[in-house]
Amino acid sequence: MHQIHLKAPNNWINDPNGFIYYKGQYHLFYQYFPYAPQWGTMHWGHAVSDDLVNWEHCGIALYPTKWADRNGCFSGSAVELDGKMYVFYTGVRYLEVDPENIHKPFNEQFEPTQMMITSEDGFHFDNWNEKHAIIPPIENIAIGNRIHTRDPKVWRGKNGWYLILGSSLECKQGQVLLYRSSDLTHWEYAGKAMNEALPGWGWECPDYFESDGTGILLFSAMGMEEPVGESQSHSLCCTASFDEESCRMSLSDQYQLVDYGKDLYAPQTTTDAQGRRVMVAWLRMPHPTEEGWIGMFTAPRVVEYRDGHIYFRLHPSIRQALQKPIDCASQADAGIYCIRTALHDGEELKIGGYRIYRADGRLYADRSALGEDSEGHQMVSQTPPVQDGYEIEVIVDKNVVEIFANDGEFVITHVVYELEPQVTASKGVELQMYTTDSMEG
Ligand code: FRU
Repeated sequence: MHQIHLKAPNNWINDPNGFIYYKGQYHLFYQYFPYAPQWGTMHWGHAVSDDLVNWEHCGIALYPTKWADRNGCFSGSAVELDGKMYVFYTGVRYLEVDPENIHKPFNEQFEPTQMMITSEDGFHFDNWNEKHAIIPPIENIAIGNRIHTRDPKVWRGKNGWYLILGSSLECKQGQVLLYRSSDLTHWEYAGKAMNEALPGWGWECPDYFESDGTGILLFSAMGMEEPVGESQSHSLCCTASFDEESCRMSLSDQYQLVDYGKDLYAPQTTTDAQGRRVMVAWLRMPHPTEEGWIGMFTAPRVVEYRDGHIYFRLHPSIRQALQKPIDCASQADAGIYCIRTALHDGEELKIGGYRIYRADGRLYADRSALGEDSEGHQMVSQTPPVQDGYEIEVIVDKNVVEIFANDGEFVITHVVYELEPQVTASKGVELQMYTTDSMEG
């Protein structure tokens, strides 16, 4: 079945984890609370895909079994070595438990240990015998905050392996910690990177990679806006230079939002079968759907650095899956379709009550007519001034609208609940619409 946007199988999901192209398939794990549609003791759910378009859920891969991860297996990543999958994650142990909800810590008192588990095939994980602690909780507060250090992302360098952690300096400034290893098992602390010009009192889910020879850091910054709360946390990206020998990383002062809809959080990348840098991210939802699940992922996007700008382009496999022309949205296969058009200042496109328009050189998206006004769920979003042209590509699925300006110059993604399949546009705006070919599924 087409699942361009991977959704929670039931109950709650958040961050994508362990995203990897491994033995001919894409594996995508995710933060999963299997008992209720709310955040709680974290497991790793697991899904696989041959093509990044059709996903199959495969149940639970990781779950608490050890003292260090007794209260949850937090976010992390996966790499391949000699045919084995090596998975890195943050094991969490609560120091104080909420007496009314044992799935949550009290007063934010928990202890993170960085852990590793290997699998021979990417499907079987021996949670009892194969887990190892690789980095103990931070002792030295000059290095980082003991509680808020997590989410190992590992990559292969020219002469060894590197691991980056999201962290905080004294709960005031976001930062990343860097480690290195020659065997994926023994890790040594090798330094840290921060830049006071970048926002957030703490950073989560860092991801470092190169695009066209330029280093890029993705990170999710907690508490970017006042008043500080969960919804004031957003995913950012900046250029970064990293020297493997010295393990020095320096971060640019300038940043972009990964997505201007601000529902997106905790993106993670890997390389696809063609070597492109492909990203997926969690879409935060204000409440569960009628079917009782909450949390979904973006369509895969290709991250590319070009002429001083970081682009988030719709992955070509999605465009390829959406090539059956239709005349109106009600003809869409399983409610999934894409709209291609161009919008100039003063012009708009409407999908049911959802408005996409261009004014003062920016792209806007307004979901206020759909209701669902809840805290931290931004009703009207806007991009910075658009430079590359007027092209718009919109992907519409049952609970999400993704709007790509000029092949990923900027993206606005909005979670939606009720969207009438009725597409209209200002006079003179030409639309092309495509859906998936149901014979493929
Ligand atoms: C980001 C995050 C990560 C953590 C995980 C816990 O959304 O807070 O930092 O590992 O979620 O579910």
